[in-house]
This record gives sequence, C-alpha cells and structure tokens, in this order.
Amino acid sequence: METPDSTVPPPHVLIFPFPVQGHMNCMLYLSEMLVYSGFHITLLLTDHNLSLLRSNNINSHPPSLPDMPRLRLMSIPDCLPADHPRNLDGWVELMDSLEKNARPLYKSLLLDLCKKDVGADGFPSVTCVIADGILPFMIDASEEVGVPAIAFRTVSASSVWIYYCIPQLIKSGEVPFRDGVDWDEPIDSVPGMESFLRRRDLPSPCRLAKNTEDKVLQLLATCTAHSERTRGLILNTSETLESISLEEIRSHMPTTYAIGPLHEMVRAYRSQDDVCANDKSVSLWHQDCTCMTWLDQQPHQSVIYVSYGSVAVMTRESLIEFWIALVNSGERFLWVVRSDLLRGEEWTNIRDSLPLEVRKGTEERGCIVSWVPQVEVLAHPAVGCFLTHSGWNSTLESIVGGVPMLCWPFAVDQQINSRLVGEVWQIGLDMKDVCDRTTIERMVRAAMNGETAGEIRKNAHELAKMVKNSVVEGGSSSENFQRLIEYIKSLCK
Ligand code: UDX
Repeated sequence: METPDSTVPPPHVLIFPFPVQGHMNCMLYLSEMLVYSGFHITLLLTDHNLSLLRSNNINSHPPSLPDMPRLRLMSIPDCLPADHPRNLDGWVELMDSLEKNARPLYKSLLLDLCKKDVGADGFPSVTCVIADGILPFMIDASEEVGVPAIAFRTVSASSVWIYYCIPQLIKSGEVPFRDGVDWDEPIDSVPGMESFLRRRDLPSPCRLAKNTEDKVLQLLATCTAHSERTRGLILNTSETLESISLEEIRSHMPTTYAIGPLHEMVRAYRSQDDVCANDKSVSLWHQDCTCMTWLDQQPHQSVIYVSYGSVAVMTRESLIEFWIALVNSGERFLWVVRSDLLRGEEWTNIRDSLPLEVRKGTEERGCIVSWVPQVEVLAHPAVGCFLTHSGWNSTLESIVGGVPMLCWPFAVDQQINSRLVGEVWQIGLDMKDVCDRTTIERMVRAAMNGETAGEIRKNAHELAKMVKNSVVEGGSSSENFQRLIEYIKSLCK
C-alpha cells in the first residue's frame, strides 16, 4: 500500500477532533488509514479525554488505545473544570473555551510541530492539518503558521449542505420559523432537497432559532463558510448515500472527498495489513461486554437495540416514557443508558420507582448497560432493529450492519439524518417530535414486525451491500481516498 520515495519526506498530518466521542471515532479511523498510507499522524486530544481513554480502555473490548508506528497521541487542556458536563448541556461552553482558551495553546503547539528538525521520536515536522470543521480557529492558525489545512466535517453531507444554505434560508424567510407555521411545510431554499425536506427535518439550530442572530445558527453557518477557506473538505459519507448533496457541495468546494463509512473502510484496510490487524478504538466510557453474552442467548433478529449516542441528555419524563413503551411492546431490548444521560440523577432511582410489572418485564426481556461496543452489537444476528437518536456515526454503523432503524432524532444534524433514513433510503421509520409511551410502543412494534418491516429490512440489506461495495478496491469511497492521499502529498511538497 505504501509507495516509499526517499527523496520526499512522508506527509505528517496533525488532526484535532472536537472532543466528543462521535468526532473522535471517525477521526481516529481516518488517522489509522493515513498511517497505512505511509503518513505520520499526530492525533491531538484534550487532556480530559486522553485520561478517560487511558482509564477506560484498559482490559476493554476492543482491546486498547491505538498502538501503531507513525501514529502518536498528544493532548492540550480544554480549559474547563474536570466536572464540566462534556455532553449537549455543556457543548456551547466547550466550544467557547476551545475557541478562547485552547486556541493560543493549539497555535503554539502547531508552531512547535512545524519546526524543521525531526523530533526525538523520529516524527518529521507537521506538513498539513486536518481541522475539525467545527473548530474554525484551527483553520485560522494554519493560515497564520503557513501550513495547509483541510476541513473534516463529521456529519452527513446533507447537513453540511443545509448549514451551507443557512444564508439563503434566512433570506427566503424560511428560517427562523414564523409563528404558527406548519412544520410539515416543504423547504424550498436548499437545492436538491425540495422533494423531501420539511421544516421539521431541518437541523435543530434552524428549528430553534428565534431570530436571525441566533448564536448557534450563526456559529454553524460561520463554521461551514470557513471550510471554504481550506484546501479541501473531507466527509464521512459515500457517493452511494448522498450523491445529490455532494454534487451541490462540490459546486462550491470542488476538492470535497467522500470517504466513508470510515469504520468500514478501515476494516477493509486492516484486513490487507496484518501488522495492524488488531482493532483500535477510542472509547470515553468503559464498554460493558456482558451485553454480547446476553445477545448470544436471544433468537435471530428478536432484539431492538436502543441508544441515544454519546452526548444527548434526557429528562426523567422522557426516559420513563421510553421505558414503559419498551416493556409494553413485548419485544426484547438492549438499552444503553449512559451514566450522564439523565441530568443530575441516576437512572437506577427511576427503576426503583417504576411499577412492579415494568420492572418484571425489564428483567424478563431487557438488558440495560452503560456503554456497548456498538459496531459489534449492530453486527450481531440477534439485533432486529436500532432505535437510534440518528447521530451520523450511529446511522452509518446501522447502514453497514444492514439493521433497520427507528429514529428518534434529538438535536443538531439528527433531524435531517432521520428524514434520509425514513423517506429517502426507506430503511427505517422516523419518529421525530413525539415522546409518549403509546406512540413509542406502536412504533417499536411496527419497526420490528409491522406491515412494512419486511420491505424496510430488505431495503436495509440492499443498501448495506451497496455501501460496503463503496469502500472496497474500485468503490467510490476507496477511489476518493486514494485521490485524497495524492492531494495531501501534493500539498505537502
Ligand atoms: C455527535 C452528534 O450528536 C451527531 O449527530 C454527529 O453526527 C456526531 O457528533 P453522538 O450524538 O454521540 O455524536 O452520535 P453518533 O454520531 O452516533 O456517535 C456516537 C458514537 O458512539 C458511535 O460511533 C457509536 O458507535 C459510539 N457508541 C455509542 C458506542 O461505541 N457505544 C455505545 O454504547 C453508544
């Protein structure tokens, strides 16, 4: 796979993901693939996350932190107190702190890493930066230091395209929503999506903005516009899934590389390179693998797997609605309830206050854990459906697993992802904007065994096949990745 050329030093790329699980996972996968291609990679994390990784990944499954030649981990502080919530509750403060406090630390590290001398560990100087697209200061710092930067957006191409269109959405008066507007009305100012995009499918900052100056709305519009100043854009998606949005994005940012799903791509690479065949994982929570033994004991496609990703925070009322609905559906369920899923309360308090028959139903048919090896869970034959918050990584992982989805989008890009699942690819049901036990129970039954469940399952299997084909040799993501490699090399000369 490598084509060593002694006259040109191999590129050394600095990568800094926004410090939450969904961003770290796919940027680690990208790092790994770049290492297989002969690059040196410095993966920058926050001190907080690096210490979590060190404590959580010992004796966990998959085994450990990355241990590869030419990949090194470094860290800087996020400059927040240790107990600051690093989930959706603390997201904006995390962004602000990185922008204001970590920015100078990042720039000084970049300057150091760009010095010409080879470090004691044999790493050459940094010649390119892959910036998380929601950290625009990385792009500014690259310009100031004079090192080329490429942006990586970890969300779907469709959400990037919608964020790109925020100025038009505002100009047309479609965002912010007028009082009393019907949320099922179509949206016209996002080219390519006119046939399926409704107001309720717009990313939550568009749905929640009260005025055109709304902080989060403007932040997302600015980040997306900022990516245009870089030398290229990397997206964790496939031409098979999002050709129209990709075409629209490329009309503004021609050097856009769709190289996903990265978790599947890296698997294909690993099998070609037995030196690095061990799985690499960065998990901020300790994975509870007892769920795999539990799954082994369940019949084929009989379990609904339920997870809301790594940053969602729920109210106790919503959790109770889900709980009762899952039990009343009569289906078996594997449910991830993170330790910080509920604001200021342990979920076990709720368990103890539930009626006896709900607790009994949970014991008979349920398995509740705090964190699972999700890709493996989705590959398990006992899993019949994924009740998901529609985070982009979860969506891709379910697509690759051929697992139909029941979508309960929570925030940001998830509203559009669930529309793609329900309407465009027809590989699941979209349950957005409801959270009552009767509806959830009905939707769980429908997703597992309803009239359309067979058709949806068939579509999911077909899409899985097509998407997997895009990451193997000759597939679009694999070809795009080769182009990206050559492009980075050309920038680093
Ligand atoms: C966030 C945003 O919410 C999401 O919409 C965006 O696309 C990326 O950043 P998150 O909400 O955590 O991410 O969702 P998601 O993108 O699905 O990422 C969660 C990751 O955690 C997935 O890779 C999933 O495999 C992993 N996970 C989740 C586990 O490994 N174990 C679990 O128990 C739950």
